[in-house]
Amino acid sequence: MDNSIIQGFSKYTKPERINALIKKYGFNPELVQQLSSFEASDKSSQKLVDDLSENPISSFHLPFSIAPNFVVNGKNLFFPLVSEESSVVAALANSAGFWARRGGFCAEVLGTEKRGQVHFIWNGNPEKLNSLFAEIKQKLVVECAFLTAKMEKRGGGIVAVELKSMSHILSNYFQLDVAFETCDAMGANFINSCLEQMGKSLCGYFQESDRVENHERDCEIITTILSNYTPKSRVRAWVECPVMELLDGKSLQECELFARKFEQAIRISQLDVSRAVTHNKGIFNGIDALAVATGNDFRAIEACGHAYAARNGSYSGLTDVQVQDGVFRFGIDLALAVGVVGGVTTVHPLAKLAMKILDNPSASELMMYLAVAGLASNFAAVKALVSVGIQQGHMKMHLSNILNQLNVPEEKRSEIQAYFQDKPVSFSAVEEFWKGGNVL
Ligand code: MEV
Repeated sequence: MDNSIIQGFSKYTKPERINALIKKYGFNPELVQQLSSFEASDKSSQKLVDDLSENPISSFHLPFSIAPNFVVNGKNLFFPLVSEESSVVAALANSAGFWARRGGFCAEVLGTEKRGQVHFIWNGNPEKLNSLFAEIKQKLVVECAFLTAKMEKRGGGIVAVELKSMSHILSNYFQLDVAFETCDAMGANFINSCLEQMGKSLCGYFQESDRVENHERDCEIITTILSNYTPKSRVRAWVECPVMELLDGKSLQECELFARKFEQAIRISQLDVSRAVTHNKGIFNGIDALAVATGNDFRAIEACGHAYAARNGSYSGLTDVQVQDGVFRFGIDLALAVGVVGGVTTVHPLAKLAMKILDNPSASELMMYLAVAGLASNFAAVKALVSVGIQQGHMKMHLSNILNQLNVPEEKRSEIQAYFQDKPVSFSAVEEFWKGGNVL
């Protein structure tokens, strides 16, 4: 391998980057064709995708899938999904169909407030700062007006500015904790621009005000940044049906047993961190797949969701269930912030299509759909876990991946699939069966 340090890689053209790659690793020059075969044939679409990041050499494909039958607040939608994990889409589609036949999902948004902070060090008395704060706040808001005017026309803007003394965790540390409404936008740029301006205005105040003593004029801005933790941007989704309708074609007794085991599994996810993490991972299987398809920042969504899962001091499952008076009610309560205008959502051709498939939702509607995807994914996982186990579904997909790896022709697959229906699937077992001449 060539270990030389490369200067100015970001200035290379795409062919130059690919050449550098081939040279460094001694790869076969055929890589050029291979990489280009994964690019969009339409040059302008490819450019849009390339421009989303830096130093692209090709496009990395993941399946863009559909799960039909998502009935949400009476509206019947296809959910566009992007996931690399086999069985996520099948689980969502199963869950959607199951609940569509039982009235569908209900969802509501409980708030859309986002927040960000100016973290600063000021070597002065917190009470004095409190007494100056009304004046400071006015200056901050006025000097942000050039940034907020457009957002205010859309019904958003700065909602509140609070001063917090944080000296209990770091000496002389204060926060401006600012609440924003960003309407249909994720608002990261808007919030960060406002916060940076506020940091400047705050320093300006300390420099200029005649109410500030000379020894109090120094204000050091440590960081100004939005918080991805948005506990006041919240959404709930739920489903319900009579316990006796929980399992198709099964007796009331079997349905009751299922409901009891389901309830216990949810309690365990709420009380045991080891189970809670996996439980919530299954929820984010659905949420992330829809978030990625719609061009939303799934890392921000996950970070927020996991912090919310620990809001009461210990990390807990995000879903809850009640089985009462013969009714099974299953729901999710989630802190979540998304946008439907700006960013990847309005640039990536497939994210734009995903939005169309969802009937061009508002940010609040998309919050509901994401919560529904999380709930649906969790229902499918817990249902499988307390009944047949998840390996049955996983193994079907696993087998299909192995058949792909072994390049088994389409027409030979059903025989192998039938053989492995009731046998453990492993790469070596499938390879042995296929290569052993057992398939006609
Ligand atoms: C696998 O991707 C997700 C599950 O492990 C979730 C769960 O255990 O609830 C099946």
